[in-house]
Amino acid sequence: MSAKILIADDERHIAEGLQMLLADDGFEVDVATDGQAAWELVEQGGYALVLADLRMPEVDGLELFSRMREAGVVSEIIIITGKGSVDTAKEAMREGAYDYLEKPLKIDRLKELIPKAVEKFEVREANRQLEERLKGLTRFGDLIGQSDEMREIYTMVEAAAPTNASILIVGESGTGKELVARAIHDKSNRKKGPFIAINCAAFPREILENELFGHEKGAFTGALNEKPGCFELADTGTLFLDEVAEMEPDIQVKLLRALEERSFRRLGGKKEIQVDIRVVSATNKNVQKAVGKGELREDLYHRLAVIPLFLPPLRDRRGDVRLLAESFLRRFAEENAKDVECFTPAALEFINEYRWPGNVRELKNAIERALILARGNEISLSDLRAHELITSEDREIRIPVGTTLEQADRTLILKTFSFVNGDHQKAASLLGMDEDKLRTELTAFLSAEATAPG
Ligand SMILES: Nc1ncnc2c1ncn2[C@@H]1O[C@H](COP(=O)(O)OP(=O)(O)OP(=O)(O)O)[C@@H](O)[C@H]1O
Ligand SMILES: [Mg+2]
Repeated sequence: MSAKILIADDERHIAEGLQMLLADDGFEVDVATDGQAAWELVEQGGYALVLADLRMPEVDGLELFSRMREAGVVSEIIIITGKGSVDTAKEAMREGAYDYLEKPLKIDRLKELIPKAVEKFEVREANRQLEERLKGLTRFGDLIGQSDEMREIYTMVEAAAPTNASILIVGESGTGKELVARAIHDKSNRKKGPFIAINCAAFPREILENELFGHEKGAFTGALNEKPGCFELADTGTLFLDEVAEMEPDIQVKLLRALEERSFRRLGGKKEIQVDIRVVSATNKNVQKAVGKGELREDLYHRLAVIPLFLPPLRDRRGDVRLLAESFLRRFAEENAKDVECFTPAALEFINEYRWPGNVRELKNAIERALILARGNEISLSDLRAHELITSEDREIRIPVGTTLEQADRTLILKTFSFVNGDHQKAASLLGMDEDKLRTELTAFLSAEATAPG
C-alpha cells in the first residue's frame, strides 16, 4: 500500500503541481485548497504526511498543525513557507513539525525530504502498532504472562529475535528461561533450523568439550566413530547454552574462540568447521558477581550478552500468578480428563500470597499435583498443600527479636537445606548464595553443633 500524503495550499497550481510530482513517485496524494478542508481530511487520519502552506485563509498552516497535535493526529507535517516567514516555520519545527520547505519549491529538496518524512511516519507507526499489539497480550509463544515485566520481555524478544545478536537470559531457576530461548528461536528466521540445547553444568569438562565440539574417529580411546557436537548440530539454527556460567576456565576459552570465529575443530580433528549459528544462553547466577569473582570470563560474558534479558522472579510479577495458575489448571484438567474448573477462594488466596521461590516451575508442579488429588470440581487449599509441598509450618521460621544476624543466617540456611532434602544446589539457589560458600558455611555450622557443649 502506498503512503498517503495531503497537500494543503490555497495556490491551486502549486498544490496540483506537487500532486503530480508526488504521484509520479508512487504516493497517493490528496489536495485541499483551504485550511478548513484540509483539517476535515486530516482529522479522519490515514495520512503519513501533510504538506501545509503556512498562509491560507481562515485556518492557516500553524492552526492546522496545532489542531492536529491537540487531536492526537500522528501524521508528520512539513510547513511550506514564503521567504518572510521562515522563522515561524522553524518555530513549528521546534513544536514537532518534521521540516519546512521554502517557496519557490525546489524539486531536489522535495525529493529528498518527503520520502524521509514518510519513512519516519512509517517506522513510528510500525512501533506503535507493535506496542499496541503486545499491550493486549497475555501470552507469547508458549509463554504465559500479562504483567508489564513479561510484556517488556515479549517486546524485547520480538525486536531481538530476527537479528543474529547473542542473547543472555538471566533469571532464577524456574522463571522460564528455556521457554524464552525457544520463543527467540521460533520468532527468528532460523525457526526452520534446529534448536539445540545443552546444559553446560551437567557434564564434567572433557565430556562437555566433546558434547560442544564433537570428535573425530579415534580422537581418544573408545572413539570408534566420528561424532558431531552441538555446534555442528545447531548449524543454520539456534544453539542454547544453558547454565553457561558453570564452565571450567579452559572450556570458556575454547567457547569464546568458537563464538568469535563461528568456527572450531572437533576433538582430534584438523579441519576448521564453519557454522552458521545464533547463540542464546541462560544462567541463574548473578553474572556480575560471577565475572567479578573470575568464574565467568569477562570477554566471554560480553560475547554472550550482546543483548541481556532479565527474567524477574514470579514474586515480582504478581499480575501473572493467577493467570498462570488458571492456565495450568485448564491444561492439566484436560490432560487428565478431570472435571476441575476452578480454585476455592482459600486456595486462590494462597496462590496469590505465597512467594513461589521455585517460580513458575513450582507453581506448575503444585497445580498439577493438586489437580490429581482434587475431588469435585474445585481445587482446595488442602489439595494444594498436599505432599508436604507447601506446609507453612515447614516453610516458615520464627525469629524472635534478640536474635543476632549471625544466628538468623544460620537458622535460615539450615532450614532451607533441610527443606530441599539436602540438595546443595537447590538450597544455594533458594538462598541466592554461591554453592561453594554454602558448603563451607554448612560444614562450619554442623561441626560447631557437634562440638557445642550440651
Ligand atoms: N511464562 C510461562 N508460561 C508458561 N509456562 C512457564 C512460564 N515460565 C515457565 N514456565 C514453565 O515452568 C517450567 C520451568 O521453566 P523453564 O525450564 O523455562 O525455567 P528455567 O528458567 O529454564 O529454569 P532452570 O534455571 O531451573 O533451568 C517449565 O515447565 C515451563 O514450561
Ligand atoms: Mg532451564
